[in-house]
Amino acid sequence: MHDIIRRLEEKRELARKGGGKKRIDAQHGKGKLTARERIELLLDPGSFEEWDMFVEHRCADFGMGEKTTPGDGVVTGYGAVNGRLIFVFSQDFTVLGGSLSESHAEKICKIMDQAMKVRAPVVGLNDSGGARIQEGIASLAGYAEVFQRNVTSSGVIPQISMIMGPCAGGAVYSPAITDFIFMVKKSSYLFVTGPDVLKTVTHEEVTQEELGGAITHTVKSGVADRAFENDAEALFNLRRFIDFLPANNREKPPVRPTPDPHDRVEGSLDTLIPDHPNKPYDMKELIEKVVDEGEFFELQPEYAGNIVTGFGRMEGSTVGIVANQPLVLAGCLDIECSIKAARFVRFCDCFNIPIVTFVDVPGFLPGTAQEYGGIIKHGAKLLYAFAEATVPKVTVITRKAYGGAYDVMSSKHLRGDVNLAWPSAEIAVMGPKGAVEIIFRQDISDTDKIDARTEEYRQRFANPFIAGNRGFIDDVIMPHDTRLRICRSLRMLRDKILENPWKKHGNIPL
Ligand code: HXC
Repeated sequence: MHDIIRRLEEKRELARKGGGKKRIDAQHGKGKLTARERIELLLDPGSFEEWDMFVEHRCADFGMGEKTTPGDGVVTGYGAVNGRLIFVFSQDFTVLGGSLSESHAEKICKIMDQAMKVRAPVVGLNDSGGARIQEGIASLAGYAEVFQRNVTSSGVIPQISMIMGPCAGGAVYSPAITDFIFMVKKSSYLFVTGPDVLKTVTHEEVTQEELGGAITHTVKSGVADRAFENDAEALFNLRRFIDFLPANNREKPPVRPTPDPHDRVEGSLDTLIPDHPNKPYDMKELIEKVVDEGEFFELQPEYAGNIVTGFGRMEGSTVGIVANQPLVLAGCLDIECSIKAARFVRFCDCFNIPIVTFVDVPGFLPGTAQEYGGIIKHGAKLLYAFAEATVPKVTVITRKAYGGAYDVMSSKHLRGDVNLAWPSAEIAVMGPKGAVEIIFRQDISDTDKIDARTEEYRQRFANPFIAGNRGFIDDVIMPHDTRLRICRSLRMLRDKILENPWKKHGNIPL
């Protein structure tokens, strides 16, 4: 017995050493933590249950017979984040560059399958050189097995990817299917085709960082949701983020009791809207003043800034917030922001998270770039997402809500449950000036006449009362009461039941 216990300890010790001291030092030298150190920071102390520590690869080609490490380059298992169950895999770059072998993939699939059986989220900490080159097609098959599980689990359990090192080639498609991708600045990168191939094929010369680093994907491509300074900050924020999410699509998100009163009056909101209709203001100020304790976890803050998306809480319960941002492109809807917000709305709808929408939108962004780029199809994504969502939907129009964009932004007509407007709201088919220039085109050179007509149009239509008169908004509220009115609406909607008709799945305009 003693002997077997000693052997067990030896095996465990070997697994814990991963690729050995030299490679661990190299990992630390790059400012990166090891796979196990990362899991320790992610999970509650002592909660990690490791599985498959003794799994090894089965490859004998290219001298691989002598290169076995227990665990085969990925640490897998389950544990708790603030007491709630999650499954995790953490790729170990110190073992054959964290490359994915058949066995490595089997380990990941095992915890994904188990997570589905018990309906708990899966977090992947990615740090891998891609397919285990020595294994060839077996490793490709392993990737596809993971992809299939990503797709099957989509909309059932939350899936989150944290990119903490390389992730290249077809390997990027597992994170791409997961619900959220976070990255660590300077040490992580994601690309389908690397710089060397680019140089040969397209003659472009770029660094890994320029091609697929955290800044590229959080500012330019919109592939990633947030970038963090280092591993520790990333994992700390990941814990914070997981706290907003339910375990699965049949549960509600956890409730975090708050000392913030639901009827907190926020007097400063009464002066948030500038006197001039074309003057911008920061919509994030409104969001932070409305949610519990001002805590707002923004997603994609540096990408498509004309729409703001993220999670906050109202009376302790998670809400997804979607808001036009007048500071960027006057808050117009364009291709990028429509895609960004549509995916977010769909996530909220999958996972029983009520959606609070703040509207100040002058319309869709005009221009050939938008039309040639397919704004028709992409704008429709956002419309589709809001329209199919059956979770509680509360909308507050702060200022402009013009044209098709009014319809899109969680309007009453798209089954908005509670649609409120501030007194400063302007809900109309278009802005007064544009409207007058069309209706009174014959007077276009007579500035006085046009000005008078514009003022007349403004008085008549640029207010919340025409919409109020038709019941398209439920009430005109004082800005300082916004938190109270949203909290009451969400309370009323707590047990909302609304189902879409049975279908295999809809056909969102992809
Ligand atoms: C086997 C690998 C490996 C791989 C790295 N290693 N990638 N072993 N298969 N894919 C090993 C290295 O041999 C080395 O072993 C150790 O990991 C660390 O690698 P280094 O090159 O020393 O590290 P670094 O300089 O940091 O460079 C990291 C890297 C580079 C950029 C990721 O290793 C690299 O380019 N690797 C190959 C990437 C690649 O082409 N992968 C396959 C893509 S195809 P020792 O023993 O020296 O420590 C693919 C298809 C997926 O992934 C398709 C899915 C559908």
